[in-house]
Amino acid sequence: MTLHVIILAAGQGTRMRSSLPNVLHPLGGKALLAHVIDTARQLEPASIHVVYGHGGAQVRQALAHEPVDWVEQKEQLGTGHAVDQVMPLLPDKGSVLVLYGDVPMIGARTLAPMLEQVRAGALSILSAKVADPHGYGRIVRATHGGLAAIVEQKDATPEQLRIDEINTGFVAAPVSRLRHWLANLGNDNAQGEYYLTDIVSMAVADRVPVHSVTAPDSEEILGVNDRVQLAQLERLYQRRQAERLMRAGVTLADPGRFDVRGELVAGSDTFIDVNTVFEGRVQLGGGVRIGPNCCLKNAVLGDGVEVLAHSVIDGARVGAACRIGPFARIRPETELAGRVHIGNFVEVKKSRVGDGSKVNHLSYIGDTQMGAGVNVGAGTITCNYDGANKHLTQIGDDVFIGSDTQLVAPVSVGDGATIGAGTTVTRDVPAAKLTLSRSPQKTVEGWQRPVKQPK
Ligand code: UD1
Ligand code: CA
Repeated sequence: MTLHVIILAAGQGTRMRSSLPNVLHPLGGKALLAHVIDTARQLEPASIHVVYGHGGAQVRQALAHEPVDWVEQKEQLGTGHAVDQVMPLLPDKGSVLVLYGDVPMIGARTLAPMLEQVRAGALSILSAKVADPHGYGRIVRATHGGLAAIVEQKDATPEQLRIDEINTGFVAAPVSRLRHWLANLGNDNAQGEYYLTDIVSMAVADRVPVHSVTAPDSEEILGVNDRVQLAQLERLYQRRQAERLMRAGVTLADPGRFDVRGELVAGSDTFIDVNTVFEGRVQLGGGVRIGPNCCLKNAVLGDGVEVLAHSVIDGARVGAACRIGPFARIRPETELAGRVHIGNFVEVKKSRVGDGSKVNHLSYIGDTQMGAGVNVGAGTITCNYDGANKHLTQIGDDVFIGSDTQLVAPVSVGDGATIGAGTTVTRDVPAAKLTLSRSPQKTVEGWQRPVKQPK
């Protein structure tokens, strides 16, 4: 039986107090709704429909690349009404699974048994036992234990309010049955809404079996209605990322001070110190050491790389056994070969640095092709920008560049060249020779330091 997923995302979400629609707020760097879409895709459905309303244009635009169909719910008349917007688009054969765009941590493994129940012709709901059921719809069971109805908080009797089994909101049903039930929903209730939950008592009346699956943990069913819940969920999400990595052989100095806003893979015996943020896709080899307070974004680091405290690496490939930092900044389109050293207060942009080369102190290397075994002295700057265009600097192998050298690009330095400290290089430097530009040093005889005049 083909599966169709409906994701509800039309709610107002006013408690977020944000100009950004609820479902676009990020969890682990990815929109809440995108998490739900990813989970839906794991179930390999024939279609995914997202019901949008409030802030709809913004949601559609932000997630335009997602393989989903968008259905507008012009007025938010309730969850049943929201699902009903999609029904005309679904074939009678098949089943529907309803997810919420603001409940991002639901797992495909939790949903799978619900789909099995629906395949057997039942209506299936995901329930949970919670310590504080306030606000949720309560699961009302008949004396024989079977589901009888779901009663919303605002419609419940004092007795029903004591029930601690709640409706998570996730429902799966055969399309044909659901179509019929939704067509017969009323809104005669405390909120004047068309409740999706009313299909439970309808199914019971139609003698359609109603089954429940109990959520294995409460994290998966947590929704995001305000920023407090968002922050709580973020920590839970990060804890999961941390545990996944630790199980894969990564040591984290403190799993509570670690953030992955994207995808991080790491080899074994890699160590990550506190407060590092990983964004986009980051791949770390084995035996890598990341010091405290680093930011790594869209980067690939080879085995045994050491990144010292307070370094930023963005859009770069770093070869094995390189040592970077502390306080280094590696910018996009940089490629460091093996055993390269980039030291403190060094910025490297759109450059290739060859095997074993060292740029250890206070330098800017931009738009540069550097060979192997090069030593760049402190304070060396590639002057790559003339105010209008960027130009290339080429440095051969085994070059020694003295401190405080400026290389005014475009310029090239031959293999084995030595450049004296303080040189401003404006023409190509020949290989294997000493090149320097320096005004002669002089000493002024008889010169006296000024002394402060008495007032
Ligand atoms: C709903 C359930 C309740 C359950 C709770 C779990 C109903 C009637 N109640 O209640 O039993 O315990 O979820 O969180 O279903 N939405 C729309 N269009 C609408 C209304 C809602 O798209 O017209 C979307 C919201 O964006 C949200 C989801 O549906 O993603 C749930 O809506 P919400 O208002 O939070 O439902 P609750 O009243 O909390
Ligand atoms: Ca809710």
